[in-house]
Amino acid sequence: MSLDPISQLLADFQAEAAATAASPAEELLRVEALRVRLLGKKGEVTALLRQLGQLSAEERPVFGQRVNTLKEQIGEQLDALRSAAQLAAEQAELEAGWLDPTLSTAAAGALAVNLPARGQKHPITRLLDIVIEHFTGLGFEVASGPEIEDTWHNFDALNIPDNHPARDVWDTFYTTKGEVPRTHTSSVQIRTMLSQKPPIRVISPGKCFRNETIDATHLAAFNQCEGLYVDRGVTLGHLKATLEGWVQRLFGPEVKVRFRPAFYPFVEPGLDLDAQCFLCGGGGHLAGGATCTVCRGKGWLEVIPCGMVHPNVLRNCGIDPDEWSAFAFGMGFDRLVMLQNGIDDLRRLYSGRLDLVRQL
Ligand code: PHE
Repeated sequence: MSLDPISQLLADFQAEAAATAASPAEELLRVEALRVRLLGKKGEVTALLRQLGQLSAEERPVFGQRVNTLKEQIGEQLDALRSAAQLAAEQAELEAGWLDPTLSTAAAGALAVNLPARGQKHPITRLLDIVIEHFTGLGFEVASGPEIEDTWHNFDALNIPDNHPARDVWDTFYTTKGEVPRTHTSSVQIRTMLSQKPPIRVISPGKCFRNETIDATHLAAFNQCEGLYVDRGVTLGHLKATLEGWVQRLFGPEVKVRFRPAFYPFVEPGLDLDAQCFLCGGGGHLAGGATCTVCRGKGWLEVIPCGMVHPNVLRNCGIDPDEWSAFAFGMGFDRLVMLQNGIDDLRRLYSGRLDLVRQL
């Protein structure tokens, strides 16, 4: 029995509609192509309507209605196919980016789930976290101050008068207004002593700036953390115990330290704390005889300049040196990170290279 053209077309369409394309995206294309081929201006259903003219007056309305029903039927079926394909496409998209927060990284890796890359703190920030944790544990607070300072806070108040040769030690940038990008965060200690009454315990981490020729161990912008303790009866013994504890935290409990006399205008006496090299153990050589790469054969690492705050500095901040005494110290942060990780060139820390950051 040969079907009439309308039934034939519907049967053909349904057979075709029953198939599906390989992917949701291709299925969407296939459904749209079917729609054009059947319902488009030059489509097969439209072509059927053109046959109306060849029919008798009685046949025409019946045929016309059947074609319209066919058109609706095909339209609805194509809509259903398109919705299903769209849903499948969305589902596939979701699955590609699916994140199950309860999966361990290893399990997610095994399932080849697309996890977003995990960020990591920069080693300088990590050390900063450790310093803050360590010193706040000892009752210190974190203080901050402006990066652009006036010369009084950066120099004069610290017992470094104008025209004193000591100013040259800090290779200073000057703004056109005569201000200085601070050369150390000692200026924050001055600001703290001016705004608070003793006893005072603060650390002041922050960026500092010096007109340095940039090389493996010098940068023009670098990080520092200074510390200050003002109280009645503060002695060199307190300084020694505090800093030894910190250096042990940094390099391990076995590390030996030594203090050498040094000159800084704002402390008297002034000292440099050296830590015995943690890599070669102080001998200056590695197993096999090579020169130690961390201390470069010296056996000791200069880590913390420090000392008892000069009475002039206390006086400049309205603190009576006969009643109060204080110790202060400073640390080049970037240098510590470099030492801790055996990095040979400071500039690497600022290279923005993620492979380096991830290794540390
Ligand atoms: N302010 C000194 C510097 O930046 C470091 C220092 C701080 C030295 C405190 C002694 C005491 O060089």
